[in-house]
Formats: sequence, C-alpha cells, structure tokens
Amino acid sequence: MLSSKKILIGVTGGIAAYKTCEIIRELKRNHADVRVVITEAGTKFVTPLTLATLSENPVLTDMFDKAASNTTIHIEFARWADVILICPATANTIARIANGFADNLLTTLALATTSPVILCPAMNKEMYQNPMYQRNAERLKQAGHIFVESEVGELACGEYGWGRLADAPHIINAVKRALLGTKELAGKKMLITAGRTEEPLDPVRFITNYSSGKMGFAVAEAAALRGAEVTLISGPNDLTPFDGINYIEIQTSDQMAAAVERVLPDQDIVVMAAAVADFKPVAYSAQKLKKKKFAASIELERTKDILKKSFVIKILTSSF
Ligand SMILES: Cc1cc2nc3c(=O)[nH]c(=O)nc-3n(C[C@H](O)[C@H](O)[C@H](O)COP(=O)(O)O)c2cc1C
Repeated sequence: MLSSKKILIGVTGGIAAYKTCEIIRELKRNHADVRVVITEAGTKFVTPLTLATLSENPVLTDMFDKAASNTTIHIEFARWADVILICPATANTIARIANGFADNLLTTLALATTSPVILCPAMNKEMYQNPMYQRNAERLKQAGHIFVESEVGELACGEYGWGRLADAPHIINAVKRALLGTKELAGKKMLITAGRTEEPLDPVRFITNYSSGKMGFAVAEAAALRGAEVTLISGPNDLTPFDGINYIEIQTSDQMAAAVERVLPDQDIVVMAAAVADFKPVAYSAQKLKKKKFAASIELERTKDILKKSFVIKILTSSF
C-alpha cells in the first residue's frame, strides 16, 4: 500500500526509540522505501546497525560525513523524502525544530524539507506538561507539522501519565494519511459492516463463522483515506480500526441489524462486508447449560436479513 513511497525516519534520544524498530518493519511490510537518520543521543538507545538492517539502507547521523555522500546530504535527503517521520521525537528535538535550529542532520532536514513532517513525541510526564514543551509543540502545529499525540500510560521512568509514545497503528495511520490522503469522498457519509457475528446459546457458547473482518476494515481505511466520514460496524475481531473512523463493535446479528438501522438514514454510501450469521439459536439460556441438558440437536431460526428490501432501496437510490 505504501509501495514506492519514500519515508525518512528520524530517531532521537528517547527510551521509546526501540519501538521505532517495529514501526520500520511495518512500513517495510507495506513496501515503503525507508531511510533512517539518527541523532547522537539516539545512538545511545538503538544501534544504527539494527536500524540499517531493518530499513535495508545505511543510517546517517553526521551531516559532515563525506563517506556517506559527496553532495549536501541534508538537501539530498530533504528532497528525497515524501514524508519525514520523527519517532520518537524528544522534547529537545521538538524545541530545536520549533525554533528553527539546524544543528544536526535531522533538525537541518526538518528545516530544509517541503514534505510533511510527522512528530511522535515521547517523554516523561513532567516534561510533557511543561509549558515550554507545550509552547514548542503548539508552534510546530501552527506551522503545519503533524503530531501523533502521546498517550496516557505507563512510562519508562516507572510513573503513569501523559508522554507515552502513541501505539504503532496510530503512527502508521498518520503516515498513510500524509502520503495517501485525498478529498475524493469529502462530505460523503459511508457505512461499512465487517466481520462475523456471534449467536449465543448460553454465556460461554455461541455459533459463529471464520470471518476476520479484514475486508471491511480495509474498505473502511480506503474510504477514510479518501476523506469520507466513515462508520464501521463490526463483529468481534483482532483488528484496529483506522484513526478517525466512527467505530461500533457489536456481537450478535440482532445488534448488527439495530446498529445498521440506527445509522443508515444518514448515509450516502453503504458497503455490507459483514459475514452475518444466517441462523441463531431459538433459545438462549442465561445460565451455562450443563452438558446433559443439551438436546441431540440445537433448534435454530433465521436471523434478520439486514440487506432486505428497504436497505437495498436505500443503496440503489443513494446520491453517490
Ligand atoms: C535514559 C534516558 C532516557 C531519556 N528518555 C527521554 C525521552 O523519552 N524523551 C525525551 O524527550 N528525552 C529523553 N531523554 C533526554 C534526551 O536524551 C536528551 O534531551 C537529549 O539531549 C536528546 O537529544 P536529541 O533530541 O538530539 O536526540 C532521556 C535521557 C536518558 C538518559
């Protein structure tokens, strides 16, 4: 999906630098072309060898390294990159970029590029709440830099609070949005259903199918990237919905039908990709059924047909 996209990753001296290795792997899995620039402090946390191996490209720290290039590396790299992802971004690097410093390869690149710059701050909670940091971050946002905001959670210093690096899927989503986002479906409301439903017999048993939800989630991501306002209704799954999607998780076919009915009237486009169960048990036991209470067969009834005529008419007359 990111084939032939050129992503320059800046790694700075934060404890979360090890997480960047996983992000590089994910970008490579998406067929992106990745180069890494690391600050001096960054090299104390993760080795250039690891980053070079994962990115399959040499890793640069020194702007004056003539062995790496005979040209002006900072200009060459700034022009090469479709996007610059600084992950993790220390308070120090954020302060330097916010104030126009160009005192190492990474800050110089950030100043020289005309491509989007995405910053993923990670730091201790006092640093994060410090008005100096907040002012610098605000200044960069005003200048159009994209922030993948830190999250609340356990921090490397053993405390709990704001400052934890955002989870990898949010960072990858921001890269995709910066590189692939369009306005093709801007102003359109789009409903997508995905995944399986589970039809319970009792609190521990249910009837289901093998649907993973991957297709519906992929359609939802593609729609969100084109600027649609997406509602995704899905049964149980192991997936992470794309950022910015209105996500509704349901379990049963009745819940799916109710959720679809609720949001349908507003929609311009509907994609039904869910594998809704065709049948459900006639009876539900609020208590776990004893083995001996099971009959030789389970009586089933048809589930609601979510695609039935009123819905189909809505789809056919959609303004899209
Ligand atoms: C063990 C350790 C962990 C650190 N973790 C962070 C961090 O998570 N975020 C941060 O902003 N600074 C952190 N620092 C401080 C930075 O390494 C320091 O500000 C450094 O100058 C950053 O340089 P750079 O921005 O050029 O990479 C840490 C320092 C140490 C010693």
